[in-house]
Amino acid sequence: MTYYNIQLKEDFPFPWPSDVFFNTFPESYLQIPSEILPPPEEVLNTKFDLILFGYQVWYLTPSIPIISFLKSGFAADILKNTPVVTISATRNMWMLSQEKLKVYLKNFDAKLVGNIALVDRRDNYTSVLTILRWMTTGQKKNQEFFLQPEFRMKRLTEPENTVRLLKIILKIIISPICSLSW
Ligand SMILES: Cc1cc2nc3c(=O)[nH]c(=O)nc-3n(C[C@H](O)[C@H](O)[C@H](O)COP(=O)(O)O)c2cc1C
Repeated sequence: MTYYNIQLKEDFPFPWPSDVFFNTFPESYLQIPSEILPPPEEVLNTKFDLILFGYQVWYLTPSIPIISFLKSGFAADILKNTPVVTISATRNMWMLSQEKLKVYLKNFDAKLVGNIALVDRRDNYTSVLTILRWMTTGQKKNQEFFLQPEFRMKRLTEPENTVRLLKIILKIIISPICSLSW
């Protein structure tokens, strides 16, 4: 088995400063690529029996590293006439992204033989907030507020929770700048 990790020439920092998080939206959605490091010779010179194509979804689109690979010219050589199983691990909104990926695979004459979509078991509102927090602060601990089973959007109408959530969102946006702790 050969493992190939797509790498950008200029990698994203982690955690993402909030401006990176929000600025990445248009580039992701418009599928604007960045430059990638060339794949190793072993990958370029092998005709694979099967490719397990693991990818991440950003803003309903294959992530910028994935789009950069697909548009790099290397992808056509590697994927051409090869059976592919796509594998994504997302919040749960992967379908539009998969449709976009399918267009590339079709153009490369790759044969999509399967798709595995791993999705978050939490509700959509919870996962969007916890991912935002993780990406912009690198923190996963103390998420009790989001993870309460009874946490639902309708509870936000309660003034106490609305204020609490607004504070959290504000912290997500400004904490990379001010190094606030949660
Ligand atoms: C910028 C950004 C945008 C994302 N957009 C989506 C999305 O549109 N749909 C979705 O289901 N998940 C989305 N996610 C969640 C990721 O697909 C993924 O579930 C999450 O980053 C955890 O994956 P990891 O453990 O590989 O980092 C997004 C994540 C990031 C960082």
